[in-house]
Amino acid sequence: MPKLIVVTRDGTEKTVEAENGLSVMEVIRDAGFDELLALCGGCCSCATCHVHVDPEFADRVPAMSEDENDLLDSSDHRDETSRLSCQLHMSDELDGLKVKIAEED
Ligand code: FES
Repeated sequence: MPKLIVVTRDGTEKTVEAENGLSVMEVIRDAGFDELLALCGGCCSCATCHVHVDPEFADRVPAMSEDENDLLDSSDHRDETSRLSCQLHMSDELDGLKVKIAEED
């Protein structure tokens, strides 16, 4: 099972096991982190699952859709590492992926 490293807003790092195929948002939520609201449940319509992806993985995560791009624009905390975690799905390729939960908008 691939591992996902989650960094919370206060900088605490925790490694969790991630089932292949689950979205990063689902893995974070199932691991009990309450900072990631994920209000729309993964429909790519709320942007409350915003995370910053470690630059080391920038080339390994899939390109973002236009919808994801538009939604991220609604965040005041968007930067070049921003992604919506419901749009990233775990795979062996992403083993060790590190994401930081984005600041609250
Ligand atoms: S959970 Fe709503 S956009 Fe990801």
